[in-house]
Amino acid sequence: MAKVTGLEGVVAAETDISLVDGENGHLIYRGFWAKELAITSTFEEVAYLLWYGQLPNTAELEAFKGQWVADRCLPEHVLSLLKLLPRETPLMSVLQTAVSAMSESQYSWPPSVEQALKITAVLPIIVAYRYRLENGLPLIEPLNQLDHAANYLYMLTGVIPEAAHVKALTAYLILGMEHGMNASTFAGRVVSSTQSDLISALTAAIGAMKGPLHGGAPTEVIAMLDAIGNKEQAEDWIRSTLEQGGRLMGFGHRVYKTVDPRAEALRQVTARLSSEDPWFELAIHVEAAAIKLLDEYKPGRRLYTNVEFFAAAIMRAIGLPSALFTPTFSIARVVGWSAHVLEQAAINRIFRPQSVYTGPMPTEQVSK
Ligand code: ACO
Repeated sequence: MAKVTGLEGVVAAETDISLVDGENGHLIYRGFWAKELAITSTFEEVAYLLWYGQLPNTAELEAFKGQWVADRCLPEHVLSLLKLLPRETPLMSVLQTAVSAMSESQYSWPPSVEQALKITAVLPIIVAYRYRLENGLPLIEPLNQLDHAANYLYMLTGVIPEAAHVKALTAYLILGMEHGMNASTFAGRVVSSTQSDLISALTAAIGAMKGPLHGGAPTEVIAMLDAIGNKEQAEDWIRSTLEQGGRLMGFGHRVYKTVDPRAEALRQVTARLSSEDPWFELAIHVEAAAIKLLDEYKPGRRLYTNVEFFAAAIMRAIGLPSALFTPTFSIARVVGWSAHVLEQAAINRIFRPQSVYTGPMPTEQVSK
């Protein structure tokens, strides 16, 4: 029998939330092209679309944004926890622990859009507060007049961010919001299928997101480009990595067998921000070399650039340190995770797949 690994090709759920078309490189959020939403919409509008199934009208958006701002507050005990956790605790582990500590009666089963909004509004506060505590900086209160993406940058830096940076970050966050049955979303849906609360589903999703094969990849992209150093060394470095069986971070995808449309869109956004930046020139050079060499070393696997390659480039261009890359991705993906938890709750049946036993059988008869 063929090896059963990674649930490849297994359909685990029907969903109205997004279509990930790996053959044609298309990503659709509830009937809209994700790459167009990324340029034309705000974070709040797309979150509304994913949770309610339609874009808001003006009055709906105003009410939604008002509630969003009202939800921007961190319980005192969670702030104490952020101060208490040892400095060396990875930011993703801090995020997971802090989210888990939010698990109050407000988040009990069944999940609701109100719960999803409340936790989505709080995630950037957790990340920004902890980041500033780690760096010995005073905490910055949220600023009501700023939208989600701008407020996140403001709470990290204490400076009203440049419009170009907000636009670029918004594009990335929107493209990071949702992506079908990826590992973290699946983890969240499995937990939710037990009728556990939204917070428990999200802590599972954050744990999956942390791994270097999933949301941890952008940090590794920066490390890879640092190790390559310059264009002249790119080919030798890539060849040597592939010959040793290593993986090129930011390339390959379980579903996309062509360029990830999110990578394509983010390449354009980053190019506008970083046209003169030698690091970006190196990234573009490495991308081309990697695609050529992946085809040579892994023929037929159809390995192209994934979203993480340009996620790293965009976050670097707006000045976010690599420790913030995966937490920032989580700040976006929490919208998709909660949309899936809501969808799961509406049709719930507990996830309970089977496994094929490949271990030894007892040598003796069953004792009576
Ligand atoms: N570099 C080198 N080889 C690769 C890469 C890569 N980035 N990705 C896949 N391959 C090779 C594998 O070695 C394997 O080769 P083999 O057939 O000779 O054994 C073949 O391609 C298939 O690889 P799998 O691991 O079976 O592919 P899978 O679909 O399970 O993995 C994954 C997808 C995890 C994304 C993989 O491509 C990878 O590790 N990429 C690097 C990490 C990364 O960028 N992750 C971010 C993904 S996007 C996201 O999560 C938001």
